Amino acid sequence: MSRGTTAIINLAHLKHNYTLLKKQAPNKLVLVIKADAYGHGIKRVIQTLGTVDCYAVATIEEALLIRRYNQEVKILLLEGFLDANELETAFENNFDCVIHQIEQIKLLQTIASSKTMNIWSKLDSGMNRLGFNTEQFQSAIKILEKHPNVQDIILMSHFASADDNTNTLTQKQTEMFLQIDKAYPTYQQSLSNTSALLNHKNLKDEWCRVGLALFGVSPIANKQAQDFGLKPVMTLKTNIIAIKNIGVNQGIGYSHAYVSTKPMKIAIIGIGYGDGYPWNLTCKASVKVNGIPAQIVGRVSMDMLAIDVSTINNLKVGDSVLVWGQDKKSELPLETVASHAQTIPYVLLCQITSRVHYNYV
Ligand SMILES: Cc1ncc(COP(=O)(O)O)c(C=O)c1O
Repeated sequence: MSRGTTAIINLAHLKHNYTLLKKQAPNKLVLVIKADAYGHGIKRVIQTLGTVDCYAVATIEEALLIRRYNQEVKILLLEGFLDANELETAFENNFDCVIHQIEQIKLLQTIASSKTMNIWSKLDSGMNRLGFNTEQFQSAIKILEKHPNVQDIILMSHFASADDNTNTLTQKQTEMFLQIDKAYPTYQQSLSNTSALLNHKNLKDEWCRVGLALFGVSPIANKQAQDFGLKPVMTLKTNIIAIKNIGVNQGIGYSHAYVSTKPMKIAIIGIGYGDGYPWNLTCKASVKVNGIPAQIVGRVSMDMLAIDVSTINNLKVGDSVLVWGQDKKSELPLETVASHAQTIPYVLLCQITSRVHYNYV
């Protein structure tokens, strides 16, 4: 019997989501696969999807990893280059770069390269994270247009609240972007993320940058991926490692955070915060055993946690437990687990630790 804590990555679902998003996107897709493809494993993701319109990542190391397996695909660095070494590496490896601040333009002016690069010039339309203000943006474009090493210029911005379609900020950001975009009718644009593509279908940008939806997860509150025809790519499972019967008035686990009010049967399962399972789900969520929900009782420990299996018959040590995703008997959406943990699905995917096994099917 093994602890069996495994992330099962369904590559058919990945392909399904990619095909669906490709149909829904008004034009081309940038697949955002930073942070090890949102915890799914960047190598297997790119081997499965092959050469697409474009991949995007946050760090130069992630970009180099993609380039090692695919010499031809377009790769976008979402934060661009941060020093001269990174700029040189970007030129050598034919990476597209986001430029969002004057310091990057200055660096670009010092470089002596015979190669050219595509630049995605980023406007801060209200997110107040990366990006030029309007004035800087216009002067940046003037410099980039004349720069001998700049090939194509793409205009981009990023939404702060596109997951909430009652929030007027998305409309304001779009208007601000389109107002500036008018001055550059020949340049392509990139505006949408997953939420914008699913929630704001009227945008017609050439390059939609989608991450979470590719992995079959919805960023939109009260909506699950299935509502959009997407299929969850990751299923997280573990095994029962012990079963015991306890009497009434018994505390379970650290600090006795749960005390039994009746005799009960509990199972100890092989997942804890050391695997990335949220500690704050203590007594607040369920897993599924044989398709039946089983409530977490007591604190989540580093390596294990206890669940109430009083009503579930014929259990034995080694039986499989669904933590999130789908198995043959049932499903437990990641979006639901994230909402119980008062976090977002992105966090749960990215915080899975290296001791969890990966099984690609
Ligand atoms: C600049 C940028 N574009 C696109 C995305 C993709 O977002 P999502 O995973 O919500 O589609 C991200 C993700 O953080 C991002 O930082």
